[in-house]
Amino acid sequence: MADARPIGLFDSGVGGLTVLREVVRRLPRESTIYLGDNGRAPYGTRPDDEVRRFSVECLDELSRRDVKAIVVACNTTTSVALPDLRRRYDVPIIGVVRPGATAAALATRTRSVGVIATPATIRSHAYFQAIKDENPFVEVYEHATPELVPLVEAGLLHGADVDEAVRRAVAPLLGSRAADGEWVFPLPSDARIDTLLLGCTHYPLLVDPIRAAVGEGVAVIDSASATASVLAELLAVNELGAPADAQPVHLQYTTGDVARFRATAAALFGAEFATVEPVVVPEAA
Ligand code: DGL
Repeated sequence: MADARPIGLFDSGVGGLTVLREVVRRLPRESTIYLGDNGRAPYGTRPDDEVRRFSVECLDELSRRDVKAIVVACNTTTSVALPDLRRRYDVPIIGVVRPGATAAALATRTRSVGVIATPATIRSHAYFQAIKDENPFVEVYEHATPELVPLVEAGLLHGADVDEAVRRAVAPLLGSRAADGEWVFPLPSDARIDTLLLGCTHYPLLVDPIRAAVGEGVAVIDSASATASVLAELLAVNELGAPADAQPVHLQYTTGDVARFRATAAALFGAEFATVEPVVVPEAA
């Protein structure tokens, strides 16, 4: 059995393209439809009920397009709304929190993981719970970094100002040198993290400045490739994979600025995806 219908992916903005990129790499025969709610991003600073409402409106758009599975490529929606979405739609829906949490719990050697994410994701403690489910002996330090999503949505991924904003954002999870040269830890001194989990799909776009800020001793993990693996397994188990001779089609929709969306998509996917045409959908509200 094979199923040529597309996979739907959703994010509040461009961040979920980091997951789309891994899905396309991992499952090259699959067609995709991506919807970014850029017109209403960021979600992560909104109240939970608004995140739920906007997410439902966007998944209604995707499900109207006859997708065979949906990837919620947004940590905020996954953390706040996944059970509501699974209740509402018949298609299988996977989120990004559990795959990322599993990857981080397996990566840490010192059993000490830092998580950066949006305020809504941190408030939900979804990552704390998911990492503890995987290994209860891992200490989890969660920290909200709301200043990073607006940078990515504005297409600001490099430069001195970005480096400084990232450095400030992650500093509370790291030790720093005091004037006398001693290490000062905002966290308990035995809590030095060796793994930083990027709990927001926008953050992998800032991975270079993040790596520079945390230094070599800290592994930087994101959910994208782990989520693509979970999706591959879901398609295999349910016999939903595309036919062997499938010619994949990738469509992208945004509720926001098409030109900016197209520029970010082109930067991420390069010439290979130059034919991808973002399409505007009317504001779902
Ligand atoms: N990409 C989204 C996430 O993973 C959040 C960005 C936003 O705040 O809208 O949480």
